[in-house]
Amino acid sequence: MISNKTCLILFFRFLPIEQASRVGSSFQLLPRDLSCLNDFTSLKLLDLSYNIFSGNVSSPLLFNLTSLEHINLSYNQFEGSFSFNSFANHSKRQVVILGSGSNKFEVKTKYPVGWVPLFQLKGLVLSNCKLTGDLPSFLQYQFRLMGVNLAHNNLTGSFPNWLLENNTRLESLFLMNNSLMGQLLPLGPNTHISSLDISGNQLDGQLQENVAHMIPNIRNLNLSNNMSLVDRVGEHVENAGPQLDLFANNFSREVPKQLLAAKDLEILKLSNNKFHGEIFSTDFNLTGLGYLYLDNNQFKGTLSTVISRASGLQVLDFLDISQNTLSGSLPSLKSMKYLEHLHLQGNMFTRLIPRDFLNSSNLLTLDIRDHRLFGSIPNSISALLKLRILLLRGNLLSGFIPNHLCYLIEISLMDLSNNSFLGPIPRCFGHIPFGEMKKEDVFRRFRDSGYGGSRPTYASYLVKYWGYSNFVYKQKDEVEFVTKNRRDSYGGGLLDFMSGLDLLCNNLTGEIPYELGMLSWIHALNLSHNQLKGSIPKSFSNLSQIESLDLSYNKLGGEIPIELVGLNFLEVFNVAYNNISGRVPDTKAQFVTFDENNYEGNPFFCGAQLKKKCNTSIKSPCTPSQSFESEAKWYDINFVVFFASFTTSYIMILLGFATILYINPHWRQRWFNFIEECIYSCYYFFF
Ligand SMILES: *[C@@H]1O[C@H](CO)[C@@H](O)[C@H](O)[C@H]1NC(C)=O
Ligand SMILES: *[C@@H]1O[C@H](CO)[C@@H](O)[C@H](O)[C@H]1NC(C)=O
Ligand SMILES: *[C@@H]1O[C@H](CO)[C@@H](O)[C@H](O)[C@H]1NC(C)=O
Ligand SMILES: *[C@@H]1O[C@H](CO)[C@@H](O)[C@H](O)[C@H]1NC(C)=O
Ligand SMILES: *[C@@H]1O[C@H](CO)[C@@H](O)[C@H](O)[C@H]1NC(C)=O
Ligand SMILES: *[C@@H]1O[C@H](CO)[C@@H](O)[C@H](O)[C@H]1NC(C)=O
Ligand SMILES: *[C@@H]1O[C@H](CO)[C@@H](O)[C@H](O)[C@H]1NC(C)=O
Ligand SMILES: *[C@@H]1O[C@H](CO)[C@@H](O)[C@H](O)[C@H]1NC(C)=O
Ligand SMILES: *[C@@H]1O[C@H](CO)[C@@H](O)[C@H](O)[C@H]1NC(C)=O
Ligand SMILES: *[C@@H]1O[C@H](CO)[C@@H](O)[C@H](O)[C@H]1NC(C)=O
Ligand SMILES: *[C@@H]1O[C@H](CO)[C@@H](O)[C@H](O)[C@H]1NC(C)=O
Ligand SMILES: *[C@@H]1O[C@H](CO)[C@@H](O)[C@H](O)[C@H]1NC(C)=O
Repeated sequence: MISNKTCLILFFRFLPIEQASRVGSSFQLLPRDLSCLNDFTSLKLLDLSYNIFSGNVSSPLLFNLTSLEHINLSYNQFEGSFSFNSFANHSKRQVVILGSGSNKFEVKTKYPVGWVPLFQLKGLVLSNCKLTGDLPSFLQYQFRLMGVNLAHNNLTGSFPNWLLENNTRLESLFLMNNSLMGQLLPLGPNTHISSLDISGNQLDGQLQENVAHMIPNIRNLNLSNNMSLVDRVGEHVENAGPQLDLFANNFSREVPKQLLAAKDLEILKLSNNKFHGEIFSTDFNLTGLGYLYLDNNQFKGTLSTVISRASGLQVLDFLDISQNTLSGSLPSLKSMKYLEHLHLQGNMFTRLIPRDFLNSSNLLTLDIRDHRLFGSIPNSISALLKLRILLLRGNLLSGFIPNHLCYLIEISLMDLSNNSFLGPIPRCFGHIPFGEMKKEDVFRRFRDSGYGGSRPTYASYLVKYWGYSNFVYKQKDEVEFVTKNRRDSYGGGLLDFMSGLDLLCNNLTGEIPYELGMLSWIHALNLSHNQLKGSIPKSFSNLSQIESLDLSYNKLGGEIPIELVGLNFLEVFNVAYNNISGRVPDTKAQFVTFDENNYEGNPFFCGAQLKKKCNTSIKSPCTPSQSFESEAKWYDINFVVFFASFTTSYIMILLGFATILYINPHWRQRWFNFIEECIYSCYYFFF
């Protein structure tokens, strides 16, 4: 039934576009109800977005609204199947936004060959509209298109090079996350295109050499994902826009000099290719670069060369060189004052962590896992006051865990596992909030890429009025952390949620500090494979958020505090291979789910769950990481250090020996007799 009241309310929304505001209220319309709109024959703008309208878009929808220029149905719950046929005679139509959200309808892609509608669209957003097969053929006759977004569909067939050719006014084209194939043909001259995102398709070919000259105003060129684009990228990719994303292609060459000579480069992403050689072959001026992603390539050389050859890196926010084959020692990066995220995991850095390694009070993430760094953690680390994530797993770090780490009161994830730390767990760890204070959502912050402002374009209009945020680069971070016996990746909002401390596989001794029980926000705590003794602190019953608690392979004694039964989120609890005595806690609450594997290897422990079972062979988690084993070579050891320690030990032994002889007359006498005997036996042996 048509309710006049409903239509009146809708009517108030049909304001000129400048005044169009979203009414957050929710309307539930019965299937035929949209037809009530057919009365508003002079309507120009219809924006129903962000409601929960439902209904069947296949019905003669908006059939009589011949004056309508803009139509926006996105973020509703329409269903059915929509065909542009119903707009065939609507010559005024300019902008159609059906792009979806929670809509469940599909948009037809098949139209009779040669069908030419009367409208000439400027903007078309059909993202997430279940488009299949080829692009709708009538688009061939749309010559005024300025913004097209057909992302997140199932479009197959060859890449629509014609779309770019036939629409010289096109400013933004978004075709990401489809299954388009074929060659990306050389782009013709196009001074309007400013954003081209064809990531996540299966294109191949070669990126033309003169691409930058053909699309001189490009600001966002995203060719990431699965293109077998090869080699010749480049000699002229300079100016390929401030945002250049070549993630996961098949580029296997050295990074062309010109690529990095680009002016105004803000984001450069070359991750997951096969780039090799030195990162910077000569000196570069990268003033303004904010994000540099070079991970998962085959770059070699040292990090200090990288730093010394590039000027302008001082303003970098995000640097990711993980999983390459850089070597040498870690240089000082203290000139990078704005650095927020540093990912160096899985290279072959060795020696000490320099005292003046970093000085960015903005640093949030520090990931130097899987190297051969040794020595201790420098106390200067306490200057990184905003640090949230500290990952040092899989090195050869030793010495005591410094109390200075406790100054890092923003830490939510700390991974010191697989090192050789000694001594006790610092008591002050109990004062690190581990996720308690979540003042700002730092991992979901947006950075305005500088788009807009200077040149008011249709594309910036899209951003402003259509909420299309692709020009705003989303600063994402993602790290791995082991919890509940799984190694998971945490990114974006999940990172804000996750907190944990991992001390697996060190040589920590002493008792577990009572204070660790104060970490009431921590989700994962792993103290396994150390030499901790004493008993499990009762205070652990305050770990009210804990999901994973692993204390296995230590020398813990005593009983399991019955209070732990109150930990409602505990999913993984492991005390195997200790000297725990007493009984298995009541099988109440979460403890119902724990079985003998969680308790085995404690000879004085008993309970219904426990059948003695000790013959299982356990794979030790303390072996060095994969990359370490496969990449490490014997000749990579540091010879200066090796000889220094060898000589020192040698001298120490000699001195010790001499001291013994000097102090003890009996041994001195025996030694001289021994030497004498030797001299005689040698004499008889040779003569
Ligand atoms: C369109 O308007 C005509 C008259 O103006 C009316 O007869 C017809 O039923 C309307 N169509 C729809 C689908 O409402
Ligand atoms: C929508 O309406 C068409 C006919 O107008 C009908 O064939 C189709 O089944 C309907 N779809 C849904 C989901 O109601
Ligand atoms: C469009 O107009 C033509 C002629 O004016 C008419 O034959 C055709 O049926 C109309 N199509 C639609 C979908 O209204
Ligand atoms: C890709 O598109 C599909 C719909 O076709 C959607 O379900 C999926 O979430 C999209 N993937 C990404 C990474 O956006
Ligand atoms: C995409 O379309 C192809 C056929 O064109 C179909 O086989 C495939 O299942 C579709 N994929 C999705 C995710 O709908
Ligand atoms: C461009 O539009 C014309 C129609 O005017 C069409 O014939 C042609 O196939 C389209 N594509 C190209 C690449 O010109
Ligand atoms: C390029 O596209 C991919 C996938 O669609 C996206 O994850 C990435 O953030 C984009 N890059 C830039 C610089 O916007
Ligand atoms: C990338 O391409 C390879 C082979 O060409 C295919 O196996 C893989 O599934 C593709 N990945 C994506 C994300 O499309
Ligand atoms: C990548 O390029 C090499 C040649 O450079 C080729 O042999 C290989 O098949 C390509 N890989 C893909 C996934 O296209
Ligand atoms: C680097 O380029 C910027 C402008 O892009 C310029 O202001 C600066 O002086 C240059 N620095 C060097 C060291 O050449
Ligand atoms: C712990 O110390 C012992 C000797 O004290 C050594 O054999 C073992 O390798 C060390 N373990 C680790 C993980 O450093
Ligand atoms: C249209 O829909 C988008 C979401 O797709 C929304 O952000 C925008 O505000 C709507 N309004 C207009 C006038 O485009």
